Amino acid sequence: MPRNPRRSLPFLMFLFGLAALACGVARVRAASDAPATQPAQSKSDPKASAASACARCHVEAKTQPLTQMGRALELPGSNPTVVTHPRLAFQKAGYSYLVETRDGKTNYSVTDGTRTLAIPVLWSLGAGNQTWVLEYDGKLYESLVSYYLAIDGLDITTGDESIKPKTLEEAMGRPIDDREKKACFGCHSTNSVTDGQVNLEHLHPGVECSHCHEGTAQHLADTVRGVDGPTPPALSKLASEDISNFCGQCHRTWETVIRGPWRGEVNVRFQPYRLANSRCFDGADPRISCVACHNPHQPLNRDKAFYDAKCLACHAAGATALQHAVAVGQSAPIANGAKVCPVAKDNCVSCHMPRVNMLGGHLTFTDHQIRVVKPGIPYPN
Ligand code: HEC
Ligand code: HEC
Ligand code: HEC
Ligand code: HEC
Ligand code: HEC
Ligand code: HEC
Ligand code: HEC
Repeated sequence: MPRNPRRSLPFLMFLFGLAALACGVARVRAASDAPATQPAQSKSDPKASAASACARCHVEAKTQPLTQMGRALELPGSNPTVVTHPRLAFQKAGYSYLVETRDGKTNYSVTDGTRTLAIPVLWSLGAGNQTWVLEYDGKLYESLVSYYLAIDGLDITTGDESIKPKTLEEAMGRPIDDREKKACFGCHSTNSVTDGQVNLEHLHPGVECSHCHEGTAQHLADTVRGVDGPTPPALSKLASEDISNFCGQCHRTWETVIRGPWRGEVNVRFQPYRLANSRCFDGADPRISCVACHNPHQPLNRDKAFYDAKCLACHAAGATALQHAVAVGQSAPIANGAKVCPVAKDNCVSCHMPRVNMLGGHLTFTDHQIRVVKPGIPYPN
C-alpha cells in the first residue's frame, strides 16, 4: 500500500464512488425503502423517537441522539440554546437585532429604527454555536447574526463578516440558493434531501442513524417482523482513508479542501484535510482513523489524557507498541519509524494538536495536522 494512497488510481476510482455516495445515493436508498414502521416524528421529542426503535438492540442509540451531531439542527420547541437565552440582542452598523423566545416560539427581528423585519425561526443550525435559517418572501436566508458560546451572545455569522448591508433585507440575512440549501440541510439534518430534491417537510433534525448507515429502515422493518434480512453494511470495515472521506462528506475531504478557496487557518476546521497532511497519517492503518479517536455515537471526549493511548499505539518503543496495538484490538502492522517523544510521556495532544482560534476567538478548533509545533513557525497549510 503506498503511503499516500489518495494519489493512487484505485483511490481516485474509490472517490468517484464516494462522490455518488455524497451526492445522496445513500440517503435516497435509506429513504426509498422506508417502511410504514418508520417511527413517526413526534412533535415533542422528535430525536428520541427516531432512535428509540434501535435502542432495544443497540447501545449506540442511547447516546447518539444527544451528541452535537445528533443535535446539529433544532426545530422550534426543542432548542435549548434559545430556551436558556430567551432574549438575545445585538447592534451593528446602524441595525439592531433581537432574537426572542416565548412559549417555544423564536422570533428573529432586525430594525433600522424606522422599519422592522420580524421572522419566525423554523430551523436552528448548530448544537452549541447557532445560526438560524430564515424564510422570508418565499426565499431562504442565513441569519446575518449568530449565537456564539465563547461570548455567550450574538455576533456576525462566520463567513458573512465582509457583508456591508445597504438595506434592511441585507442586514437580516444572506440569501441561500438551492444548491446551498441542499448542502446546508443535507449536512445538518436527515431525510431532507430525497432524489436530489430538498424536502423540508420530511426533515428529521440532526444527523441520525440512517444518514450514516445504509438500509436501516429495511433492517428495522425486518427485525420488527422477525425476518432474517441483510444487516446494514459494517462501517467498521472501512480503511482509515475511506473513513476520512466518509466523515468528509460533511467535515470536508482532503480533495474538497485542496480544490477549494480555504488557505491558512480557516482550513483548521476541516479535520480530514489536516489529518491527511500529518506525517502520522497512513490511509491503511486503522490506528489513525477518525474512529480510532472518536466514537460517532458518543459526545466528543474532552479529556486530553484519553488520547495518549491512541498516540502510543504507534509512538512507543517497538514491542510495547505492538502489544498495545494488540491490546486495543488493532492488527495492522506497526508503522515503520514511529518515534518516541523526547519531551513528555503524556498529554500528547496538548502540544502536538494545538487549538487554533478563529474569528477573534469566537470559534476554536483542534489542529488535526499532528506535528512538532515550534514557536515562530507559521501555520502549515
Ligand atoms: C430487534 C433487534 C434490532 C433492532 C430493533 C435493530 N437492530 Fe440493528 N442489528 C441487529 C442485529 C442482530 C444485527 C447484526 C449484528 C451482528 O451481525 O453482529 C444488527 C446490525 C446492525 C448494524 C450493522 C453493525 C455492523 O457493524 O455489522 C447497524 C449499523 C444497525 N444494526 C443499525 C440499526 C439501526 C440504525 C436500527 C434502528 C433503525 C437498528 N439497527 C435496529 C438487531 C437489531
Ligand atoms: C451528515 C453529516 C456528517 C457526517 C457524515 C459526519 N459528521 Fe460529524 N458533525 C456534523 C455536524 C453538522 C457537526 C456539528 C454539530 C454541531 O455542533 O451542531 C458535527 C460535529 C462533529 C464532532 C464534534 C462534536 C462536538 O461535541 O463538538 C465530531 C467529533 C464529529 N462530528 C466527528 C465525526 C466523525 C468521526 C464522523 C465520521 C465517522 C462524522 N463526524 C461524520 C456532520 C457530520
Ligand atoms: C458540507 C457540510 C456542511 C454544510 C453544507 C453546512 N455545514 Fe454547518 N457544520 C458542518 C460541520 C461538519 C460542522 C462542525 C464544525 C466543524 O468541525 O467544522 C458545522 C458547524 C456549524 C455551526 C456551528 C458553528 C461553527 O461554525 O462551527 C453552525 C452554526 C452551522 N454549521 C451552520 C450552518 C448553516 C447555517 C449552513 C448552511 C447555510 C451550514 N452550516 C452548512 C457541516 C456543514
Ligand atoms: C455520523 C455517522 C454515524 C451516525 C449518525 C451513526 N453511526 Fe453507527 N457507526 C458509524 C461508524 C463510522 C461506525 C463504525 C465505528 C467503528 O469502526 O468504530 C458505526 C458503527 C455502528 C454499529 C456497529 C458497532 C460495532 O461494534 O461495529 C452499530 C450497531 C451502529 N453504528 C448503530 C448506530 C445507531 C443505532 C445509530 C443511531 C442511533 C448510529 N449508529 C448512528 C457512524 C455513525
Ligand atoms: C489521534 C487522534 C485523533 C484522530 C485520528 C482524529 N481526531 Fe478529531 N479530535 C482529536 C482531539 C484530541 C480533539 C479535541 C478534543 C478536545 O476538545 O479536547 C478532536 C476534535 C475533533 C472535532 C471537534 C472540533 C475541533 O476541531 O476541535 C471534530 C469535528 C473532529 N475531531 C473530527 C475528526 C475527524 C473527522 C477525524 C478524521 C478525519 C478525526 N477527528 C480524527 C483527536 C483525533
Ligand atoms: C498510525 C500510527 C500513528 C499514530 C496513531 C500517531 N502517529 Fe505520530 N507519527 C507516525 C509516523 C509513522 C510518523 C513519522 C515518523 C516519526 O516521526 O516517528 C509520525 C510523526 C509524528 C510526529 C513528528 C511529526 C513531524 O512533523 O516531524 C509527532 C510530533 C507525532 N507523530 C505525534 C503524534 C501524536 C501526538 C499522536 C496522537 C495524537 C500521534 N502522533 C499518532 C505514526 C503515528
Ligand atoms: C510539553 C509538550 C509536549 C508533550 C506533552 C508531548 N510532546 Fe512530543 N515533542 C514535543 C517537542 C517540543 C518535540 C520536539 C523535540 C525536539 O525536536 O527536540 C517533540 C517531539 C515529538 C516527536 C518527534 C520525535 C523525533 O525524534 O522526531 C514525537 C513522535 C512526539 N513528540 C510524540 C509525542 C507523544 C506520543 C506524546 C505523548 C505521549 C508527546 N509527544 C507529548 C513536545 C511535547
